[in-house]
Amino acid sequence: METKNQLMLRKPVSMFEEDMKKSGLHRVLGKWGLTSMGIGAIIGAGIFVLTGLAAKNYAGPALALSFIFAGFGCAFAALCYAEFASILPVEGSAYAYSYATMGELFAWIIGWDLILEYAMASASVAVGWSAYLGKLLSLFGIKLPLWLMHDSRTAAGIVKEATEKGTLDSLSNHYSSLDLPNFLGSAFAVNLPAFLIMLVVTAILCKGIKESASVNNIMVVLKVAVVIFVIVVGAFYINPENWFPFIPERVIDKDGVGHFGLVGVISGASYVFFAYIGFDSVSTQAGEAKDPQKDVPFAIIASLIFCTILYILVSLVLTGMVRYSDIDISAPIASAFTSKGLNFAALIISIAAVAGLTSVLLVMVLGQTRVFYAMAKDGLLPPMFSSIHEKFKTPVKTTVLTGTIVALVSAFTPIDDIAKLVNIGTLLAFVMVCASVWIMRYKEPDKVRHFKTPAIAFVATGGIVCNLGMMLSLEWVNWARLFIWLGIGVVVYFLYSKKHSKLAQYVKDNPDMKY
Ligand code: ALA
Repeated sequence: METKNQLMLRKPVSMFEEDMKKSGLHRVLGKWGLTSMGIGAIIGAGIFVLTGLAAKNYAGPALALSFIFAGFGCAFAALCYAEFASILPVEGSAYAYSYATMGELFAWIIGWDLILEYAMASASVAVGWSAYLGKLLSLFGIKLPLWLMHDSRTAAGIVKEATEKGTLDSLSNHYSSLDLPNFLGSAFAVNLPAFLIMLVVTAILCKGIKESASVNNIMVVLKVAVVIFVIVVGAFYINPENWFPFIPERVIDKDGVGHFGLVGVISGASYVFFAYIGFDSVSTQAGEAKDPQKDVPFAIIASLIFCTILYILVSLVLTGMVRYSDIDISAPIASAFTSKGLNFAALIISIAAVAGLTSVLLVMVLGQTRVFYAMAKDGLLPPMFSSIHEKFKTPVKTTVLTGTIVALVSAFTPIDDIAKLVNIGTLLAFVMVCASVWIMRYKEPDKVRHFKTPAIAFVATGGIVCNLGMMLSLEWVNWARLFIWLGIGVVVYFLYSKKHSKLAQYVKDNPDMKY
């Protein structure tokens, strides 16, 4: 087959339907289990950590508007995901949707891009988890050495900064020792908590989808209860003066980065967008859903609406409790309560953050393994990625591999730069899904859709414009990194995937096939 043809080859919906019948995964998730998975993936580091920086540096009290703007982009995308999930209830999510509409190369690129969303987001959340665990332990008077809490570069940076500012003493309050051991001539450090939590999450995911869903449910109940606690109790401590001016005047710093003003609100949106990531992960669990065509669309939309309402309320409470310029960026919500003398709240919030971030890890790594599983079933990744354990009915090998890589990345890499890639990569997937669902309306107009996106032209265009707008408001360096990452993906495609594509082989064997 000519290269050009294979790159544009689309996988017919009927082939997806055949694949689904042969799936070895365990179908146990119902409507509410899936919704809980969605909430499990959504509420995490975004709301517990990033809100502080977004308010202080970008949006001011208008943080709620940033959440509303990002929420619109996500809602448009969620409607498109929901329609797709009702037609193609398969594990691959955006990868599979692109395969059905835009062709093999696009699909591969999106599958590769999803590694940023799921695996790399997990690595950054694992680092956030470790930071919150450190906070929680310190509330009980337990301290760990610096070299066991961060990767080497971050640990050395922390010591350097404290030395320059003369704050080494206060650093000693957080860590039992500041010395970094020498290993092969360089200072050595490892983020041990991040590494260990990833191993625990991996073990749970291998054990079974039922076990994973049960652990997720417990974490979700805990974190949702605490977020509601923050809203209800925090409301009594709001000083409405803190909300004025609601959108502070625009300031441009020396790097040309916009703060405040409407541009700041949009920049804030592309920043807090991270808080929404995860609703789409429900679509990767279609293979484990009892009635995926109806329940997956429901769960995507329900979990997003629920979390959007909570987020808007939390941001109003936070910016009402503390003047935006005084917000603590490392633990904004817990610190807002401590500043009002509610020290017990810091403990409750830290416990919820640790639990909440655990469920994000669980569902995001689950999503990654299911995308790999779908790509391997199509031959674009080695068969190892799609082998299912006979007893556990989970893809144990790919779960162990994915979990171990994420554990190593979170233990040894300074995660900040990678984390910035997560948003742009996810936004790209959303743009592609919005475009694909519209294309699908033309390519497969008669296909039964258990969920049909209303006003498709408006919703798909709105999704593309909002999500592309957020992509464009990110600094150019993120674009450069995204292109490098996707470039690596294209090389892998030509070296391996193109030669092993099952669809290409099928088309070669059946030259009369219509697709
Ligand atoms: N939405 C997830 C979080 O905020 C990724 O942690």
